[in-house]
Amino acid sequence: MNIILLGPPGAGKGTQAKRLEEKLGLAQLSTGDMLRAERKSGSALGRKVQAVMDAGQLVSDDIIIELIAQRIDGLTGAKGFILDGFPRTVPQAEALDRMLAEKGLKLDAVIEMTVDEAALIERIAGRFSCAGCGASYHDSFNRPKREGVCDVCGGKEFVRRADDRPEAVKIRLEAYRQQTAPILPYYRAKGVLRTVDGMADIDEVGRQIEAILGRA
Ligand code: AP5
Repeated sequence: MNIILLGPPGAGKGTQAKRLEEKLGLAQLSTGDMLRAERKSGSALGRKVQAVMDAGQLVSDDIIIELIAQRIDGLTGAKGFILDGFPRTVPQAEALDRMLAEKGLKLDAVIEMTVDEAALIERIAGRFSCAGCGASYHDSFNRPKREGVCDVCGGKEFVRRADDRPEAVKIRLEAYRQQTAPILPYYRAKGVLRTVDGMADIDEVGRQIEAILGRA
């Protein structure tokens, strides 16, 4: 099963992708995580995208398409994939269609997660993640079970993202409205677009997504 989680910054794409990865054995392919890994490794690509990402703008389509094509090519063992943060522009959606067609793969569902803007800002402002394994938490909505200790890897160091500053968040939300929202009609026309209420709590959003996938 191959799906896309689509939604604005802070909608909960990464949170739900991790849950689906564990529950259904699908591989999470997050372009944001891939770019952050490049940055952490100090690669030429990582240095190239750093300023654009920290400002809250989108990285160029050609870089992203190359990155995701390599990951889809390298997938082994998973029962399919969850695209998280890709595609984000119409050219990226078109490139994905070409990649899938070349490999004889299909998209089973594109799941749009809708969340009010005020809630997005609150979610992003309170987000932090484990410096070791990247597990994501929230100051109010999703704290580690043991204070100061990562549930997943036991790490004790946590970080906040540079692009979660209010100035960058404003630009990210605008990029979503201008560049990403136009792909919704693209997938609606293909008959694969489904919508979940991303305002619900994390477990309830997960149940809504699983109900859709059960029918896909
Ligand atoms: P990326 O990493 O993809 O960021 P994003 O799309 O802005 O999404 P976020 O990671 O901020 O949010 P999310 O929806 O995953 O929410 P999360 O689950 O963390 O991209 C970063 C940058 O990389 C881009 O700005 C761009 O520069 C570049 N980039 C990446 N892909 C690109 C592409 N394809 N093209 C061009 N450039 C690209 O949840 C947020 C918080 O809310 C967490 O604290 C969580 O615990 C909490 N939470 C989650 N769900 C709920 C809930 N239901 N109720 C309450 N709290 C919740």
